[in-house]
Amino acid sequence: MAAEPPGEREALIASALGREWYHTIEIAPGVRTPGLVDLRSIAPRVLPDDLSGVRALDVGTFDGFWAFELERRRAAEVVAADLDSYLDTEWPPPTFARLADELRGHHPGERFKLAHELLGSRVRRVGSAIYDLDVERLGGPVGYAVVGALLLHLRDPVRGLERVREVLEPGGRLLVVEPFDLWLTALRPRRPAAVLRARHTDFDWWVGNFACLNAWLHLAGFVEPRRRAIFRLPAGRPIRQWFVAYEARAPAARPST
Ligand SMILES: C[S@@+](CC[C@H](N)C(=O)[O-])C[C@H]1O[C@@H](n2cnc3c(N)ncnc32)[C@H](O)[C@@H]1O
Repeated sequence: MAAEPPGEREALIASALGREWYHTIEIAPGVRTPGLVDLRSIAPRVLPDDLSGVRALDVGTFDGFWAFELERRRAAEVVAADLDSYLDTEWPPPTFARLADELRGHHPGERFKLAHELLGSRVRRVGSAIYDLDVERLGGPVGYAVVGALLLHLRDPVRGLERVREVLEPGGRLLVVEPFDLWLTALRPRRPAAVLRARHTDFDWWVGNFACLNAWLHLAGFVEPRRRAIFRLPAGRPIRQWFVAYEARAPAARPST
């Protein structure tokens, strides 16, 4: 991508800094977006150091933090998928109309575009719900996928994960980074359980315990889920929740008989 003339770049940075962001992203040396969520210290704990030769996917990319991190780790190509309209979200019915009204005129990819331009990124954004992912839309299968802070917003997390598994190469890796319920994890370490939040929060459906996240992964056909990290989301209240990162694999190809 061609670099903008210096004056234009400064204007672009100023416009970025004047907005509200979800992600903290370093858009120029020492300059970062004023994000609600700063995952910069988490990425090195959960992502592979080097993704050379791997096609990678970030599902529900929002401002693009994970996608840009995958690109920084030299992925051969990065596709960032997200909805093109907030009207396509599954916000719980009691709050949907109010939120849609508040966000009229906005869409989930508006800040991604700005960060993308400032970083000179080659990440390709694809407008797609997790449920509609397919290999054709992504330009081929991927070897590594990230699903971050998204399953809690879905009515059907297992169906969403199944679609991700279907776009992964055999043996491809998935990183899931989701909030978990601390008490349900302590009280029911083995029994899958989740809190249904849809009646008392604006955006969320479920927050499960570790066993629930594992069950979702297994039900969607993933194997070998391994915990990579547990952390408090580096964010202000009310989203400063406990998060867990799991890496799992799509099954390897069956040997032909
Ligand atoms: C809380 S943000 C998480 C952003 C980022 N993945 C992270 O881990 O920080 C949730 C994102 O999921 C997207 N999203 C919500 N429902 C979706 C769906 N059905 N399919 C794909 N993306 C969805 C939203 O548009 C938003 O970008």
